[in-house]
Amino acid sequence: MSKDLILLSDLSIETIDSILERGQYWSEDNNFRISNTAKVIDNPLVCNLFFESSTRTRFSFEVAAKKLGYHILNFEPSTSSTQKGETMYDTLKTLESMGVNIAIIRTKEENILHEVAPKLDLGIINAGAGANEHPTQALLDLLTIKQNFGKVTGLKIAIVGDIKYSRVANSNIIAHTKYANEILIAGPDFLLPEKDSPLMTSNVRICSVDEAIEEADVVMMLRVQRERHPRKSDFDWDSTSGQNKYFLKYGLTSERSKKMKKNSIIMHPAPFNRGIEIADEIVEDPKSMIFTQVRNGVAVRMALLERALKK
Ligand code: CP
Repeated sequence: MSKDLILLSDLSIETIDSILERGQYWSEDNNFRISNTAKVIDNPLVCNLFFESSTRTRFSFEVAAKKLGYHILNFEPSTSSTQKGETMYDTLKTLESMGVNIAIIRTKEENILHEVAPKLDLGIINAGAGANEHPTQALLDLLTIKQNFGKVTGLKIAIVGDIKYSRVANSNIIAHTKYANEILIAGPDFLLPEKDSPLMTSNVRICSVDEAIEEADVVMMLRVQRERHPRKSDFDWDSTSGQNKYFLKYGLTSERSKKMKKNSIIMHPAPFNRGIEIADEIVEDPKSMIFTQVRNGVAVRMALLERALKK
């Protein structure tokens, strides 16, 4: 078994199921479980290396490590020797030499983790790599879906918004394709995957935002990732009218949310923009799982830290 988690596409269904099972165990949070769990090694050292900004992923890994009794170190790129040209491999080899057991890495570089992981003994967890994949987000999303529906198969999943530049969308499309779910994608044409993208399997169907929201069991809204767009979007984002135009055409408005199926749920990886991709009043609607996703992020990341110590 690999100790690393680099891409969701690397994981078998059996591995994903076992991570979800352990994540569920930790989500039924009780201190007895935490204090009675034998550590695989004594005093594991976990290092967070975030080369892009983060609130949820970084702090949920930190909370997860603290709950497990692991020691967490925070690497600051701006004050590190990466500023002097030190490479990712040399940085990780240096940390490994000091005794760090697990590195959690968020980076703009899409393929670097696959390149360095085979040369290192420490466990590597991808905490979001450019516009490629965000596997730990997809795993916590799967756990949230499983808790709501009692299963992760036989479902219709809508993913709405900026899909082309979203690593969350990529990892979720890969996960739901593995589980043979029907995936509805909707958004502005220039934010949808290319027709020849490997993501566009027979499980994936492009449809209108209204159709996606009305038909789906899970409505996953995405932030517009302007920072990754190669050109200015077709909407004038510097004006409120451009943002309103996006909201009315592609956002989860109150009117659209009322047309959702009875037992369907709303998800968003966050950070969310109230009044742009999701109505302010929907963020904490009973159908919204946004803060449940955040809570499950800690549980799933506890499971992933334990896994990263196993050889
Ligand atoms: N969902 C997510 O990855 O959030 P952060 O960027 O805050 O970590």
